[in-house]
Amino acid sequence: MKKLFLLGAAACSAALLLTMVVTGPANGQVTKGKTRPLTTHQLMEGLVGPNCGGLSKALKAKPADAKAWKKVATQAALLNEASYILMADGRCPDGVWAGAAKTLREGSAAVLKKIEAKDAAGAQAAFAGMTKACGACHKVHKKAHKH
Ligand code: HEC
Repeated sequence: MKKLFLLGAAACSAALLLTMVVTGPANGQVTKGKTRPLTTHQLMEGLVGPNCGGLSKALKAKPADAKAWKKVATQAALLNEASYILMADGRCPDGVWAGAAKTLREGSAAVLKKIEAKDAAGAQAAFAGMTKACGACHKVHKKAHKH
């Protein structure tokens, strides 16, 4: 338990470490941050899910014009932003969560780079790497919160 606590604390933010020291080895918020109203469910359903699904479809279809490239860039950038939200406001419970958020952050940044180069095949490959984040986090943290 202590080891797990230390691991999680190291992987999450210094602010979380401070909180954990004050409140004991509690588990981060998971379903919601500490102070902001957005639930993880809303974050997933309103931001992460739709942008991931839309991006997947659009990359498969290959963006055909400037408008389509602009749209996929927006989707990738929003997924990148979501990775920061996942780590903010005391939401992160452990190293698995932190690692998956990092995969989402780096993966979406890689997708965005390929999009900027208008490389649809490269973007699709980077997208496949990015989506490893979804399963990695869900495997551990989603099953306990069924909807
Ligand atoms: C760092 C953790 C984490 C990552 C990364 C993550 N999710 Fe989630 N996701 C969750 C959690 C926790 C839930 C359950 C939330 C709840 O119901 O309280 C969830 C739920 C969902 C849901 C269902 C909505 C719900 O709450 O039932 C969808 C859709 C979803 N995620 C999509 C994605 C996609 C797509 C990705 C990858 C691009 C992703 N998620 C990455 C943690 C994560």
